[in-house]
Amino acid sequence: MTTTVLIIVLIINVLVLITFGAMVWGGAPYVPSRTSSVEKMILLGDIQPGEKTADLGSGDGRVVIAMAECGAEAHGFENNPVLVLVARRNIRKAGLTGKAFIHWKNFWNADFANFDVISVYAMPYIMGRLYRKIKKEMRPGSRIVSNAFEFKHETPVKKDKGIYLYQL
Ligand SMILES: C[S@@+](CC[C@H](N)C(=O)[O-])C[C@H]1O[C@@H](n2cnc3c(N)ncnc32)[C@H](O)[C@@H]1O
Repeated sequence: MTTTVLIIVLIINVLVLITFGAMVWGGAPYVPSRTSSVEKMILLGDIQPGEKTADLGSGDGRVVIAMAECGAEAHGFENNPVLVLVARRNIRKAGLTGKAFIHWKNFWNADFANFDVISVYAMPYIMGRLYRKIKKEMRPGSRIVSNAFEFKHETPVKKDKGIYLYQL
């Protein structure tokens, strides 16, 4: 009985860590994008073969995989080690090894300079800080696709039901 209770508590702790752990490091909890949203992000982002792309907070890797399927060199930054393992496994299962990469890293410590397109599904309270980092590091012409949340003082070049495309 005691062992069962301990296992249940452990599982609950792991689930809480997976869901809310990221907020401690200035990010969003784990909520995967819907398949329809991923499709819209890819369409709006107009990902081209050979482009270098990144998903900030890559979760189970679904956006990174969709980008790699378009022929991009797709990277994901994720600070939750459990999700890093899950995403790497999903990439292997999708046959995208060598085309999609997951980095166990806080995206605030990543350099965005070499990416053509960045996608994000974050929280409203980090969008201002994130835009400043993007503006400082990314080249003019770079695209940013955001699921659900807008950059307050910027105008998206395109939008489609909760997905926003920005261009520097
Ligand atoms: C809302 S989920 C989105 C997951 C995925 N991008 C998708 O669209 O399905 C946000 C993800 O960002 C991760 N995350 C939050 N803050 C982060 C940070 N500072 N660095 C890296 N990953 C972070 C969370 O662990 C979570 O997996």
